[in-house]
Amino acid sequence: MKNFKTIGVLTSGGDAPGMNAAVRAVTRAALAKGLRVLGIMRGYSGLIDHDVEELHARSVGNIIDRGGTILYTARCKEMMTAEGFQRAVNACRELGIDGIVAIGGDGTFRGAKKLTEAGVPCICLPGTIDNDVASTDHTIGFDTAMNTIIALIDNLRDTCESHARCSVIEVMGRGSGDIALNTGIGSGATGIAIPEIPFDEDALIEKIKHSRELGKRNFLVIVSEAFGGDFGERLTKRIEEETGVESRFARLGHIVRGGSPSLHDRVLASQMGYLAVEELLKGHSNLVICERRNKIVSRDIQYALTLDAMYKGHLEEGELDRFDEATVRRMQSHCERKRKIIRRLYDMANDINI
Ligand code: F6P
Repeated sequence: MKNFKTIGVLTSGGDAPGMNAAVRAVTRAALAKGLRVLGIMRGYSGLIDHDVEELHARSVGNIIDRGGTILYTARCKEMMTAEGFQRAVNACRELGIDGIVAIGGDGTFRGAKKLTEAGVPCICLPGTIDNDVASTDHTIGFDTAMNTIIALIDNLRDTCESHARCSVIEVMGRGSGDIALNTGIGSGATGIAIPEIPFDEDALIEKIKHSRELGKRNFLVIVSEAFGGDFGERLTKRIEEETGVESRFARLGHIVRGGSPSLHDRVLASQMGYLAVEELLKGHSNLVICERRNKIVSRDIQYALTLDAMYKGHLEEGELDRFDEATVRRMQSHCERKRKIIRRLYDMANDINI
């Protein structure tokens, strides 16, 4: 088993609230075990450039409540090239980094997996507002982003009620509808458009007409950014033209990605960071720390990536061959369960948000 003296911690990909709480937990857990901790700046870019700072207990003081990431972040294209990757591996040797905790989304996991294969043990934490990592029930940052969105939608509802209007609101989430679905339920939105379920525009138009006739003044429609282009603007125009309800479009975009993390994200990030260090010290690596049914557990990175690909319908030819039949079946039923939960929530929203 590797003798750990120094570990690195980095944040990579889009920033997410709670990343700092995770960095703090990793740092303090490692220091408590007598390790030295290097904060790697700007994700894998900082590793390649030897841009590191030693972290002490006080370096991570007063950050549990801060959004963004004190280590900064980047989406590092160089890490995907053979030369850039080799520089990252060399940097670990030159800086004396014995293992890395990497916080981010699936791009971050891919980099960590390659580093582990090259002899640098890595453990990942899922940090992204999108909640688009199939192996975990929740990612760090998801809860905060949704609470931020709900507060903004509540403001829009005031205006909609005052003017008897409809607001169509586009929210982030990349290819995942989790943010849109949950904020749609939480705001009582009349319509929710997510990529996981075919969106019936005509039914929404009829629903709005009917509810208006019954005296409803404000209408909220939440659309996922996954639809792309001018989907939201076009839908807004159609609602106004066909229902007669004055309508406005709002794209919340990056405004919901920052801000102080919620209690849920702080606790999740702390637990995940703590377990990541324990796993490294047990000699385990190539893992993603996940939350499954309220428990913090570890999953193999390749398992997590393949499960994700299966759920998103991006499986590559032969990708399942490396798993035994029982594991493939487990993955399939995991995806099935996830789809069922989404379907049920969607149908529920449709019935109770009128
Ligand atoms: O992954 C987080 C996220 O905010 C997504 O919701 C969004 O699609 C994307 O990042 C935006 O990326 P960027 O910050 O590079 O514009």
